[in-house]
Amino acid sequence: MAYHNAKTAKAAGALKHLHTLELKAGMYVADPGIDWRERPYLYMREGLLVSDDEVRNIAAGGYLEVYIDPDRSPAYTDVASPEVELAGAEVRGKAPVGHKVPFAVEVRAGAEAHDAAVGYARAFMSDIRFGKLDMSPASNIVERIMRSLENNTDALQSLCRLRRTDSYTYMHCVNVSIISSMFARYVGKETQTIRAIGLAGLFHDLGKALVPPQILNAPRRLSDTERLIMNTHPTLGYEQIENVPDIIPEVPQAMLHHHECYNGAGYPSGLSGDDVSEVGYIVALADIYDALTSKRIYKDAMPPQRALGIMYEMRGKALHPEMVAAFIRMLGVYPVGSVVELSDGSLGVVSAGNTDMPVKPVVIPVKDADGAYLPKSVLDLASPDNTLSIVRSVPESTAGIDPAEVLGLPAGPPAATQRHKL
Ligand SMILES: [Fe+2]
Repeated sequence: MAYHNAKTAKAAGALKHLHTLELKAGMYVADPGIDWRERPYLYMREGLLVSDDEVRNIAAGGYLEVYIDPDRSPAYTDVASPEVELAGAEVRGKAPVGHKVPFAVEVRAGAEAHDAAVGYARAFMSDIRFGKLDMSPASNIVERIMRSLENNTDALQSLCRLRRTDSYTYMHCVNVSIISSMFARYVGKETQTIRAIGLAGLFHDLGKALVPPQILNAPRRLSDTERLIMNTHPTLGYEQIENVPDIIPEVPQAMLHHHECYNGAGYPSGLSGDDVSEVGYIVALADIYDALTSKRIYKDAMPPQRALGIMYEMRGKALHPEMVAAFIRMLGVYPVGSVVELSDGSLGVVSAGNTDMPVKPVVIPVKDADGAYLPKSVLDLASPDNTLSIVRSVPESTAGIDPAEVLGLPAGPPAATQRHKL
């Protein structure tokens, strides 16, 4: 790579913002002067890319975004090639997005499936304290999730992130089930494995219900002894499930491994690398992503882009590096429900992903550059007639836009009275 002084970079407005999957040899990477701490997944090492290997290394390094200078990029032809895969990653997407059923239709069926699943999670997390576990509804719950993902992946994906109608714990059980099934489907796992991962996601924190409440709900930092007790929850959950007749073996295995780390720093056994099951790594990805993007009493919901940036930093540490790369690719740069600013200064909500061209999703414009509301329309950024592009994602609170409302997500039932705080 030929290096030039970063100060020679043009103003970011004259540069082109691409997904790293769109890079090619012959493009000139520019440093837009953005603080890397704000955008850890933005590749900023300035210079001309001279080989395909350089391009592959950037994408395989987990970087998502890059600015290029078109004037110094002989290979730039306005519409960049989307063909470059996350080179170097053995885990690749095979079944990215199901769009068999329109979003507006599937989101209703998805919301019903989501509500049923949350109700079931509430029941089993309570019952297990009394030594009861009725697993009979679980397979139907997971089948409904799998069917909805087949029909339209965007529906459940947006419900996971935007629907917050019940306690975090129960929503989280369901969301981990959905996101991990979605990923298993994306990387081409067989139906039986997707089913196992969906069940494991649902039950992954079952053992938490068996941790003494004074530790589970402690409104303070846990002592070392308490932390060790808390860390038994994967084993406690595993023990409840391992002997269930006809259970798919990957279910208890994923539950046991969901806090093991790639570098061996996890628990309960400190396993590392390939000793941690693939299903365990998959549930861990979904667990962390949902935790980061959820609103809690003590924190706001983090925009998906920022969460993916943090997960990228966790590659090779807590998370399997190739799986993180594939996970980022699955969700794209702007997952459904993201609030984005367009190049004309307007704000909108991403309503459908585009896995071939991740920086060109479908957007519903909401407000113009002056903050005035726009008439409802749908803008496909990949359409040949379109001249607009996404400049950046914007936190919902800053934009004053509720993506759930814009996407027309059905309202959820009122939160049930909680008997137990989790
Ligand atoms: Fe856990």
